[in-house]
Amino acid sequence: MDRIIVLDFGSQYSHLICRRIRESNVYCELLPYDSPISMIKDLHPKGIVLSGGPSSVYLQNSPKPDKKIFDIGVPILGICYGHQLIVDEFNGKIKRFDNREYGYADLVIDDNSDLFQGINKKIKCWMSHADAAENIPNNFEILAHTKNSLSAAIANRERKFYGIQFHPEVSHTEEGNRILRNFSQSISNAKPDWTMQNFIDFSIKNIRTKVHDSRVLCAISGGIDSTTLAVLLSKAIDNNLTCVFVKNGLLRLNEEELVPKLINKYLDINIITINAEERFLSKLKGIRDPEQKRKIIGEEFAQVFLEVTKDYGPFYWLAQGTLYPDVIESGLSKGPAAIIKTHHNVGGLPQWLNLKVLEPFRSLYKDEVRKIAALLDIPDEFIKRHPFPGPGLAVRIIGEITDEKIRIVRQASNIVENELMISGWYDKVWQAYAAVGDDLAVGVLGDERMYGHIVTVRIVESLDAMTADWSRIPYDLISKISNRITNEVSGVTWVTYSVSSKPPATIEPQ
Ligand code: XMP
Repeated sequence: MDRIIVLDFGSQYSHLICRRIRESNVYCELLPYDSPISMIKDLHPKGIVLSGGPSSVYLQNSPKPDKKIFDIGVPILGICYGHQLIVDEFNGKIKRFDNREYGYADLVIDDNSDLFQGINKKIKCWMSHADAAENIPNNFEILAHTKNSLSAAIANRERKFYGIQFHPEVSHTEEGNRILRNFSQSISNAKPDWTMQNFIDFSIKNIRTKVHDSRVLCAISGGIDSTTLAVLLSKAIDNNLTCVFVKNGLLRLNEEELVPKLINKYLDINIITINAEERFLSKLKGIRDPEQKRKIIGEEFAQVFLEVTKDYGPFYWLAQGTLYPDVIESGLSKGPAAIIKTHHNVGGLPQWLNLKVLEPFRSLYKDEVRKIAALLDIPDEFIKRHPFPGPGLAVRIIGEITDEKIRIVRQASNIVENELMISGWYDKVWQAYAAVGDDLAVGVLGDERMYGHIVTVRIVESLDAMTADWSRIPYDLISKISNRITNEVSGVTWVTYSVSSKPPATIEPQ
């Protein structure tokens, strides 16, 4: 499979470059900017993109790639900071200008013979920079300009090096996808063979080769990732797959009954159900720290898997539905995201579990998993469900986890989801739930004073959970949700609506 590599210099948009290139069916991967040249070469990229980033190339400690990437002989596209790296590398001059460009700019295309092929002479583009090229290097020519950037796009056609000052990956840039497609397919000659059907065929072969005839344990939660994974695995290894569903007391309302029912109804896979509610909740008693809660839950899952292995094993592999954003956020990102939350499925398994990890979806975004699910004929009941975090309701309960708070988040979240479904908003948003903490507020119920819980409703829109924004659902709908929660969930007096985006907030409160 042909691939394009994006080297990440820390821009908030780096992973978007990957998404856009994949959307035109070319496989694309994000790697840290300082990836060793031997590793890059081993991947045989057809082209390399240098992302944007917050630094300035003329600063002493600014991030730089291994210079040898310019000798590999493949086309290179620099975006914003990446563009400035190319200018700097070939002896042009980058400096800070007073006329910073943030936001929209009119890009005038002077030459549309390759990178801008098929694009009108003038487009709107998205700029976000203070540095720019004062002189471009010898052997480079200008392909496009804006009022403030006379060399907004440059090229050395002989070596196939291109630099653009603006961000083609953000939706504000008109024809941004076309520019990335021109680079990846026309200039780099990468074949557009990244289709989800190809991925399925390739993964089935790959899983068979890896696993041979050893047995695989796959934990399923009823969420889209683990369900799709289980169906794919069962196609690949049939009876060597055993699925386990753990009732940990932290699932949504009715979920413990619904998930096995849905799986039995629609999918041809056998599941073992483990009742572990008591042991999870007793271990969590008195624990208030979010990271400690996550750690306890992760370890308890591992304990359960160990027992399943003893009772139903031997197993050699544990399959997990880890996705690409989990990998980016925990491994590659140089930013604070790497340490914000311990996603137990990315943190690695304890050694004593003695199982090898199988993660066929490690390179996928969630919308790609949804496409695979559709190709595998998994019904909409699974595909359209919102993502649900591995540690369950524990991440939506602030402070100690008590039976009362579990009841409140279950009932209130059920009302949120139910109202979104009735009003047609459920499918338009990424996630919707209610959270609860220890804060109480005075209410008045039937003329009586009541000191009850404050529930926070959080509804967010997102493409892949890397960034998110709160959903602007109609006031009337918020009002209806609020009324129902205070009327139907006993012990709640106030309802608030979360209006924080990610960043700076995260999607889940814990
Ligand atoms: P945050 O809260 O980090 O969440 O913005 C991003 C997305 O990931 C989900 N999430 C998790 N999923 N294990 C998971 O499988 C976890 O530990 C975990 N923590 C958060 C969250 O629901 C959102 O979709």
